[in-house]
Amino acid sequence: MTARSLDKSTARIAGMFNDIAPHYDFLNHFLSFGFDHLWRRRLVRRIAKQNPRHILDVATGTGDLALLLHRKTKAAVTGIDIAGDMLAIAKKKARKLEKLRFIQAQAEALPFPDGSFDVATVSFGVRNFEHLQQALAELQRVLKPGGTLAVLELTTPMHFPLKQCYRFYSFRLIPFFGRLISAHRAAYRYLPQSINTFPQREAFLSELAHAGFTTLTCRPFTGGVCCFYTANKK
Ligand SMILES: C[S@@+](CC[C@H](N)C(=O)[O-])C[C@H]1O[C@@H](n2cnc3c(N)ncnc32)[C@H](O)[C@@H]1O
Repeated sequence: MTARSLDKSTARIAGMFNDIAPHYDFLNHFLSFGFDHLWRRRLVRRIAKQNPRHILDVATGTGDLALLLHRKTKAAVTGIDIAGDMLAIAKKKARKLEKLRFIQAQAEALPFPDGSFDVATVSFGVRNFEHLQQALAELQRVLKPGGTLAVLELTTPMHFPLKQCYRFYSFRLIPFFGRLISAHRAAYRYLPQSINTFPQREAFLSELAHAGFTTLTCRPFTGGVCCFYTANKK
């Protein structure tokens, strides 16, 4: 399986996330042993230091990162996603929070003027973009000069024994539990395939550099199961 042969057409990805939306939060926390909360909190702690006023959360899904960003920074947060059923859950969670809005839109065509946001975030989303460079160019465009892009993405651990355990876990156990709980076989086979074929660490930093971002950083979390990337618009 190569990056090219994995179907990431927007229609397929949106359909898949719409199908699993009712089970997404539970499975996310269950399959990551709750680490997804910890990783998002670490991103938010780093971003809060900048005192941003306007944040864009791309591929916001059910809105957990957008909500946490709003709670901890008090910034106005806009979440966008292609999957309407994921956004419906996000909107329910954010009821009564005036400075949070959710919009159905695509990372590759953001419906915002140039320089609208101090910070843009993407948690576990970049791996799914149909056109990565186009989406990065859009993120760059909507950030203010000097603005920060913060990305969390799943990666493959590089060292024994975590590397071997992770392989078994992601290619055997995740599809098994994913299918059992969500009844969506394809989505939980897609998950490890999409991690495996997506540019990781230095390779993702090269993608960011190619899109024109500077001051690039990459921090592995939890033995390299996840990486936290930051980049700035010039
Ligand atoms: C694994 S979920 C991550 C959701 C959320 N950020 C989180 O931390 O749980 C990936 C999300 O990316 C969205 N997505 C995938 N491709 C997208 C694109 N091109 N533009 C916007 N959203 C996209 C999917 O619909 C899905 O909700």
